[in-house]
Amino acid sequence: MSDKITIAIDGFSSCGKSTLARELARELHYVFIDSGAMYRGVTLHAIRTGCIVNKEINRRMLIHSLESIQLKFQLNPETKIPELILNGENVEQQIRTLEISNFVSPVAAIKEVREILVAQQRTMGLSGGIVMDGRDIGSVVFPNAELKLFITAEMSIRVERRYQELLYRGMKSSRKEVETNLTRRDHIDSTRKESPLTQTEDAIVIDNSEMNREQQLEVALELVEKAVTYLA
Ligand code: DC
Repeated sequence: MSDKITIAIDGFSSCGKSTLARELARELHYVFIDSGAMYRGVTLHAIRTGCIVNKEINRRMLIHSLESIQLKFQLNPETKIPELILNGENVEQQIRTLEISNFVSPVAAIKEVREILVAQQRTMGLSGGIVMDGRDIGSVVFPNAELKLFITAEMSIRVERRYQELLYRGMKSSRKEVETNLTRRDHIDSTRKESPLTQTEDAIVIDNSEMNREQQLEVALELVEKAVTYLA
């Protein structure tokens, strides 16, 4: 039996899920998939093709345009981080803007969008050895994942992390704008009808408010070891 497990990481926005997932995958030589990037890719495509105009989403047009979206990940040879490719174009930078963050939650609440992306995510995880982060990974995408983590952190810390990330990427914003966006997304993501963000009963909670990246990774690696030992 392969000792490569499936690791599902869920939680609210900007809790450090993707950072943890990426570092875990690097340590374990697993595949890392940032499922939020896929929802961001669909949102970027929707804006570019006129499915979102004057802050209004044309739901029918967007659902129709799903046929013309091809998403995949490609490893950046320098950073070793998988980057999102939308219809052949690397859009890793474009999907991280506050504009995309402002529209992505309503787009991700659309049933047809979720059906297509969840099917693709399941295919990516068929052979195990995957760390995927998102909102519905432990509850819907991989309900049988051997390890499920639910990441939380205090709002002020999440705001600061996202604000610094945007600054690092050269994008202008304010802490207030970031906090408004996070609060709104948390609300939409956890109250939507289609697979809302929930903490499953078998998920282990990690509050990383007081942890640095190394400490968070260490805690998670211990949990992976336990999960793998339990299976052996
Ligand atoms: O992780 P992120 O902030 O990049 O995710 C962007 C949005 O996509 C988030 O507001 C909710 C949505 N999302 C989702 O509904 N399900 C997932 N598995 C991942 C993200």
